[in-house]
Amino acid sequence: MLLLLALVGMGFGIGPAGRPYVFPALSTFPAMPLPPHPITIEGVALGRRLFYDPILSADGTLACASCHHQQHAFAASVRFDTGVSGVLQPRNTLPLFNLAWAGSMFWDGRAATIEEQVFHPVRNATEMNLPWTQVAQRLNGDQQYRAAFRQVFGNRLVDSTMVANVVGQFLRTLLSYRTLYDRVIQGLDTFDKDQRMGYELANDMTRGDCLHCHPIDDNPLGTTFLFSNNGLDAAPAAFADKGRGAVTGRAADNGKFKIPSLRNLAYTAPYMHDGRFATLADVIDFYSEGVKPSPTIDNKMEFVHMGGAHLSATEKRQIMAFLLTMSDTAFVTDPAHGAPQPW
Ligand code: HEC
Ligand code: HEC
Repeated sequence: MLLLLALVGMGFGIGPAGRPYVFPALSTFPAMPLPPHPITIEGVALGRRLFYDPILSADGTLACASCHHQQHAFAASVRFDTGVSGVLQPRNTLPLFNLAWAGSMFWDGRAATIEEQVFHPVRNATEMNLPWTQVAQRLNGDQQYRAAFRQVFGNRLVDSTMVANVVGQFLRTLLSYRTLYDRVIQGLDTFDKDQRMGYELANDMTRGDCLHCHPIDDNPLGTTFLFSNNGLDAAPAAFADKGRGAVTGRAADNGKFKIPSLRNLAYTAPYMHDGRFATLADVIDFYSEGVKPSPTIDNKMEFVHMGGAHLSATEKRQIMAFLLTMSDTAFVTDPAHGAPQPW
């Protein structure tokens, strides 16, 4: 009872009209980690509205969706996005899907949870630049938002925790699980020859060697979500952005970034934390012949001593064919994730 009161006090209470949101069954995925608060149809709908509404930015020009575009799996098509102040973001915009399984948020993991992450872009001076007290004032002054928040949390003044809670609820519904690859691992479809060969190469430690960091056989998430230095640069360039090291303060973490998923690559170019590769072919060329040693390089980069895996043109084509089977057209066109109708 005390715990329940505490949760309600933190803005995590279920509202009078909250109907549970039902997630799809994901039989091949690990169990989905859930937050301590309920996820409701009303909460998700409200979070979706806020995600697409520039009301969360200082000058009312920028929404979450201004940088995170559904047709790009909620990533961006530019190398660096621009915030309200016209300042370029220092890193490439991350796609948004299957976030519940990630141990932490951002390329460097500096936010521990999805809900905590939501606090960052709003108050960040170079992103949306709005103090949370003003966010709360704006939303409390808006009849429609007041009513929608009441449906989720009961009759309370809107606060930042409630905003983070509902935007987080929406983010948790962004699930990518409807690809050719998913159908194949469920035995419902088959790869063609190139796709099958590419799958085997990616899974083969002695050839493509992608599996340690981007598992695909026993884990359909396409990443371990660990932090790693995959050899993009030699020192000192490898540490120009310290990545995980700037968060932990440990030199051993310098130059490490969160391993991204192999899903939806057809939509998320450019690639890497600094968007340095414009095409997937560039990425495969890098793993084949562009890998550079540095003091923190991941020892699971098996071919660093020879600068990469040295794949043949055929092998590169096959790996590309396989990677594209993990792109999810249903996800990037799902109307449930798009901009909502006006009130
Ligand atoms: C100005 C562009 C911009 C805006 C506006 C923006 N984002 Fe982002 N978002 C980014 C960038 C860039 C990153 C990667 C930053 C990093 O990792 O250092 C990111 C990362 C994230 C992540 C982490 C994903 C992961 O896999 O770790 C989430 C979640 C996210 N944004 C959600 C949001 C939400 C919710 C909003 C609105 C409240 C928002 N973003 C507004 C550019 C933006
Ligand atoms: C030792 C771990 C490791 C191995 C092995 C590895 N990767 Fe990566 N991969 C990473 C990390 C870390 C990043 C992000 C690096 C960064 O941005 O600084 C990444 C990024 C990527 C990206 C960019 C994704 C995006 O959204 O920007 C693609 C594509 C990719 N890897 C494909 C592959 C393929 C294909 C293989 C096998 C040929 C492979 N990786 C092997 C760790 C690894």
